[in-house]
Amino acid sequence: MSSEEKRLAGEAAVKYIEDGAIVGVGTGSTVAFFIDALAGIKDRIQGVVSSSEQSTAQLKKHGIPVFDLNATGSLTVYVDGADECDPHKRLIKGGGAALTREKIVAQAAQKFICIIDSSKRVDLLGKFPLPIEVIPMARSLVGREIVKRGGNPVWRDGVVTDNGNWIIDVHGWQIADPVGLENDLNQIPGIVTVGLFARRPADVVLIGDKLM
Ligand code: 5RP
Repeated sequence: MSSEEKRLAGEAAVKYIEDGAIVGVGTGSTVAFFIDALAGIKDRIQGVVSSSEQSTAQLKKHGIPVFDLNATGSLTVYVDGADECDPHKRLIKGGGAALTREKIVAQAAQKFICIIDSSKRVDLLGKFPLPIEVIPMARSLVGREIVKRGGNPVWRDGVVTDNGNWIIDVHGWQIADPVGLENDLNQIPGIVTVGLFARRPADVVLIGDKLM
């Protein structure tokens, strides 16, 4: 993992921001570089919609206005990191437990720019354990459904998401059909969000300052 590549990616993403935009902002250490770079052009944008309390705190420290998504409608651009990215720009996300709001803001955006370092680039998704946000009372039920599908669910004990839910990390899956798995898991009661971003993949991936 290279923090220099993360910084370059965060800074490169700023070039995609148009004047007057309301920018969707993801979560994580790569996005933290993006937020610092965005502060340099804050007078050229209207503000942002944030995907986590963590990003909101950093954005507010920079004096960047943070809007409620209900008040903005659709966004032109969303910038976020990822835990893994395959050649089709399909992602695993949620290492920072912010996957639900990230998926909502990504869905609201016309263009999703994913910023990563080269360690995140994979041919097949699944080496990084797949995060799944669950309603607390459904943790065991969802765990059993995952075992039926050949996964090894591990509760991220002690972590509570911004939405008051829990995270299960699924080990041992080699995800050959990310869209199919995302659709299948989305049907299990108690699952709030699956950390697969395959139905709505990234549009642009920056590895450091280079386009994938
Ligand atoms: C948070 C995420 C992050 O985008 C992902 O974990 C990558 O983080 P980082 O940029 O710190 O490597 O999905 O829920």
